[in-house]
Amino acid sequence: MGKIKCIGILTSGGDAPGMNAAIRAVTRSAIFNGLKVKGIYRGYKGLVTNEIVEFKSQNVSNIIQQGGTILKTARCKEFTTPEGRKAAYENMKAQEIDALIVIGGDGSLTGARIFAEEYDVPCIGLPGTIDNDLYGTDTTIGYDTALNTIMECIDKIRDTATSHERLFFVEVMGRDAGFLALNGAIASGAEAAIIPEFETEVDQLEEFIKNGFRKSKNSSIVLVAESELTGGAMHYAERVKNEYPQYDVRVTILGHLQRGGSPTAHDRILASRLGAASIEALMEGQRNVMIGIHHDNIVYVPFSKAIKNDKPIDRDLVNVLRELSI
Ligand code: F6P
Repeated sequence: MGKIKCIGILTSGGDAPGMNAAIRAVTRSAIFNGLKVKGIYRGYKGLVTNEIVEFKSQNVSNIIQQGGTILKTARCKEFTTPEGRKAAYENMKAQEIDALIVIGGDGSLTGARIFAEEYDVPCIGLPGTIDNDLYGTDTTIGYDTALNTIMECIDKIRDTATSHERLFFVEVMGRDAGFLALNGAIASGAEAAIIPEFETEVDQLEEFIKNGFRKSKNSSIVLVAESELTGGAMHYAERVKNEYPQYDVRVTILGHLQRGGSPTAHDRILASRLGAASIEALMEGQRNVMIGIHHDNIVYVPFSKAIKNDKPIDRDLVNVLRELSI
């Protein structure tokens, strides 16, 4: 692979607030460093179908504050096949794109890793997901905004929960990770969080009830991470109805509103730093790494590590939630 003159940028998988700030940072940083930029629409799909447009600095004006992604996103089946990736490579060559910047979660970075290995294409990943489930980075683009959205929603739910003295199960996203549920619970002063990471260790509902959650309170809010492991909020509400019928239970599923909205300052700054660092990394000769942040420093995490390892939940956070919910 010769000198990199032109980069392609795409967003893939579930959108996350701050993706636009990342697109802006990558584009402007690349242009600042003398590179050409091509925006690839609808994730890997646009690479397969050649939906590719040259980006100038103005293409990314006035987007830092917008949620979603101006490049659109998709989960692309074709790219999981060798034929799809071949078509993608041919389009990339025809468009004279020398390297790819992929913004997305673990599925998107898995795609980048396979493509990079198969065609010797330099790929750099940026962690863009509200789930915060990528190993090697303390946080991901979109996570902070989603957490703030959850907190604002729960502040509202608390009003009605208190008035009616009810027990609420609030389901939050996260796929198979409990970061949004656990930190959302701490931020909103909820009584507990049920997360997939502990599902096989203890009966989290029983533990919550046994801890005497109604000792000093008439209403309670429990965040439940969506996951096949937890079974979601409905599952726990059903259990309470059957096993503890004395409680008046309600369920709220926050759903996709957690993915929308203007990114917080934290996510805009994170996306800007990671975006600029992705160009620096490429120019330094880095390949096939995700740009992450650890202890406020930029780090390069090989795709294989970022995708394959489970990011651990901090047990101290679980203890803080437990202590503060008495
Ligand atoms: O990965 C982000 C995420 O929002 C997960 O939390 C959730 O499980 C999933 O995407 C939902 O995907 P979709 O928007 O395709 O329903």
